[in-house]
Amino acid sequence: MPHGGGAFVLYSDLAVFSGRAHPELTAAICARLGQPLGEVDVFEFSNENIFVQYQENIRQHDVFIVQPFSSPVNTAIVELLIMIDAAKRASAGRITAVIPYYAYGRSDKKDQPRVPITARLIANMLETAGADRILTMNLHAGQIQGFFNVPVDELNALYPVSAYFKTQDLRDVTVVATDVGGEKRARDLAARLDMPLAIIDKRRIGNTETAEALHVIGEVEGRTCLILDDEISTAGTIVSAVNALRLNGASDLIVSCYHPILSGPAVERLLALDLREVVVTDSVPLGPEKRTPNMTVIPVAAQFGDAIARIHSGQSVGALFQ
Ligand code: R5P
Repeated sequence: MPHGGGAFVLYSDLAVFSGRAHPELTAAICARLGQPLGEVDVFEFSNENIFVQYQENIRQHDVFIVQPFSSPVNTAIVELLIMIDAAKRASAGRITAVIPYYAYGRSDKKDQPRVPITARLIANMLETAGADRILTMNLHAGQIQGFFNVPVDELNALYPVSAYFKTQDLRDVTVVATDVGGEKRARDLAARLDMPLAIIDKRRIGNTETAEALHVIGEVEGRTCLILDDEISTAGTIVSAVNALRLNGASDLIVSCYHPILSGPAVERLLALDLREVVVTDSVPLGPEKRTPNMTVIPVAAQFGDAIARIHSGQSVGALFQ
């Protein structure tokens, strides 16, 4: 039940539910919180309509629904909307959509005639369904937060990922951004690891999934390059970055990303690149078919669990990063 006076309300009953996208992550978040996983039935009829029914009372509860927008992406989105709607109609006190990976992030501006801004459309749909807050991690562009009129907490995988790299014996390493847009992300990692930075001048060819690396800005000759991207989808960006860095004399390569989508030919491409290591998080599910022998997976459940605990008790989430 909520309690407290004035505009700020504390909800005493925490409830965490999982959509079908990433139950392993939700289970790990619940373990971190010391919280039982909420019971909910979610299934699809033969006509592909999704059915949701909460199996416990959530009246006035502080409800968190965990669902990254991973494959099948559109099903994951619609399922989350339906779960939010069901929670609202069950009189939940507050509903937080926990979206470790927010798909359609690249569709965040009308940069060509007659194209949508899908990241904004999905934000509208989440609010219309009844989401009171959003908890997410590494949006493709921070400005996507502004597509919401409800509070958005955006976690940063920089912290667990850089903590991992600090435990490794890394020498003569340069952190590399795959494009100018990713410069800040890579600069933050370079700063935390006390390493120099290089940037690849990348061009995406039309609306295809093909990317071309043009120039390398920075010193990479004879150095190990740690390439950082927010997501790896087809791995086309990584392939062209690796080729450009090798052409410029890089001696060894490590690839890291926060959201390992690994669609289409990605795994095959990563395997063919002869990388020292691929370092990713588990923001999206990583079945055996998506794992490479040189892959290290950094768990993010602790960050999400701690953020949920803080949101629930009305404490600062930003303090987690200090
Ligand atoms: C692009 O702006 C992103 O930061 C990633 O570089 C991109 O999403 C990766 O896609 P792909 O792996 O298909 O090249």
